[in-house]
Amino acid sequence: MKVVLINGSRREKGCTYTALSEIAKVLNGNGIDTEIFHVGLKAVNGQINEIVKEVAEAMETADAMIVGSPVYYASPSGEVIAFLDRLFTTAEDVLTLKPAASIASARRAGTTATLDVLNKYFMYAQMPVISSRYWNMVHGSNPDDVMKDEEGLQIMRTIGTNMSWILKSIETGRKYGVEQPIIEDKIFTNFIR
Ligand SMILES: Cc1cc2nc3c(=O)[nH]c(=O)nc-3n(C[C@H](O)[C@H](O)[C@H](O)COP(=O)(O)O)c2cc1C
Repeated sequence: MKVVLINGSRREKGCTYTALSEIAKVLNGNGIDTEIFHVGLKAVNGQINEIVKEVAEAMETADAMIVGSPVYYASPSGEVIAFLDRLFTTAEDVLTLKPAASIASARRAGTTATLDVLNKYFMYAQMPVISSRYWNMVHGSNPDDVMKDEEGLQIMRTIGTNMSWILKSIETGRKYGVEQPIIEDKIFTNFIR
């Protein structure tokens, strides 16, 4: 089993990475592989098409996705939004029904608004949203701050534990004949016709 981790920060090894790493430790300890993609950095360097393609390919075989973003002006980073807009438009089929979680890293405020934006992508693609014991956030301006945020780190570990439990439950269910839901053809209306 594998979980794809998305670092929406331009900083490769900043706070978001530190929080994602805490989740990865728990997943790895439960025998689940992880692969991290530095989406924010690639997007800001003009490589958005490449990173969308790389992640879409990884999601063909991965079982779940966790998206992390720093808070920029009380929202997810522009880079991660641009990435998710393209990924969900072009590769919804490799995401559908796979569990997902979002996390936010902020110095101070804007975390719940950020989580709200991120979770809406998952809901669009029928992805079960994995929760923790508070809202999925850490606080800090640098990785040392995050490592001092004991509550935040516990929230991250709990995401890892809950994600492991859901993935193993799905795998066990499949072995015993619990199939994925049949997806109806999409009805697509607007308010004009
Ligand atoms: C452009 C920009 C905007 C930011 N806006 C906010 C904000 O609205 N609220 C906040 O608490 N922190 C804000 N921050 C701080 C970062 O969210 C915070 O330091 C975060 O933990 C950085 O994560 P990273 O190291 O993974 O990039 C902002 C940082 C930048 C660079």
